Amino acid sequence: MDAIASSIGTPVYVYSSQSIREQYRRLDAALARIPHRLHYSVKANSNLAILSLLRSLGAGLDIVSGGELYRALRAGFSGADIVFSGVGKTTTELGEALDARVLLVNVESEQELYALDSFARAKGARAPVAIRVNPEVTVDTPHPYTRTGERGTKFGVPYDQVAELARVAVELEGIDLIGLDMHIGSQIDKFDPYRAGVERLLSLKAAAEEAGAVVRYLDIGGGLAVSYDAEHPVDVEEFGRVIASMLSGQDVTLLLEPGRYIVGNAGVLLTRVLYRKRSGGKEIIVTDAGMTDLLRPSHYQAFHGIEAVVPADSSVVANVVGPVCESGDFFALDREVADVQPGALLAIRSTGAYGYVMASNYNTRPKPSEVLVDGSRFGTVTERERYEDIVRSEHVTPQWREV
Ligand SMILES: Cc1ncc(COP(=O)(O)O)c(C=O)c1O
Repeated sequence: MDAIASSIGTPVYVYSSQSIREQYRRLDAALARIPHRLHYSVKANSNLAILSLLRSLGAGLDIVSGGELYRALRAGFSGADIVFSGVGKTTTELGEALDARVLLVNVESEQELYALDSFARAKGARAPVAIRVNPEVTVDTPHPYTRTGERGTKFGVPYDQVAELARVAVELEGIDLIGLDMHIGSQIDKFDPYRAGVERLLSLKAAAEEAGAVVRYLDIGGGLAVSYDAEHPVDVEEFGRVIASMLSGQDVTLLLEPGRYIVGNAGVLLTRVLYRKRSGGKEIIVTDAGMTDLLRPSHYQAFHGIEAVVPADSSVVANVVGPVCESGDFFALDREVADVQPGALLAIRSTGAYGYVMASNYNTRPKPSEVLVDGSRFGTVTERERYEDIVRSEHVTPQWREV
């Protein structure tokens, strides 16, 4: 870690190829007894090198924007490898998805279905569609922002409206209804919500088939938890048994959209301590990484372990904070951490998912670099941004137009 930080600089995200391979293979093996494909959720970590690594393992992708589609194609995936989720796809994005011939568009509302239908007909195409169902199940995740399958959320089509929408879909010339989909939330470590959701998908499958659809895909989303602190890791073998037993006898291919499970524990964020100070009786450790590099602690009150790369002799209860001009810019509050001095290198653990992808330029801070480690070698997979990169699309003088 020291060698990487010294040659690349800090802050820097460092990912382990081996960890990504192991997580992918373990989950894939857990589902071996049923026809399935893992469609890695690009939003968790969209670096091209990571997408390419996952492609070499046989993954498909789950995307939520035209930008992610662009990345997917750049990383060598084809449309047949891609499912397209998202509550607010623009017509431009729907067009891009049709042009790329994606495997499924996961439609999240009646209006989206009509938009896609007219768009597909105009192109003389039929859009392969799964209806994203909001199964309205109880989901227990560490933060309310990561629950998406409960009643009243913006995601998906409410459970009691799906059968009717399926009847509409089978009548539309531009739509080929071939799947049902759900994604109930993220960092889920119990299987009951999946069980309840899959039961609901299966009852809707029967209703859709009665209406004339041939449901070939059941996409049950992502959400499997990783351990950030001392939590027990999710038993994916048991997860595989639960899902397989529910789908036995069903003539469907299971799709899964794991993000965090694949990359969450595969990354650390390396940051150097800039300063120490005391304020109001508190020890404060200021690092060169901030909420612009890793948003999860301030956005989700998420826990990430913090370790000194060179162990310190003692510990201290401190706030570990970033340099951004926001009180919410912290990585840990009142936490016992290594008693480190300026210049020390800290590793913020389990930051492979929803880390770099949520980075911003707030305070005009360049986004950090990303590095991939493979065996004894490491390589930069994202260059650190430069100031000129940040202002590239801005104009000092407005490009005036007459109204
Ligand atoms: C539609 C969809 N699929 C999959 C995922 C991946 O979730 P996770 O990273 O928890 O596996 C998300 C993330 O929120 C999502 O919105």
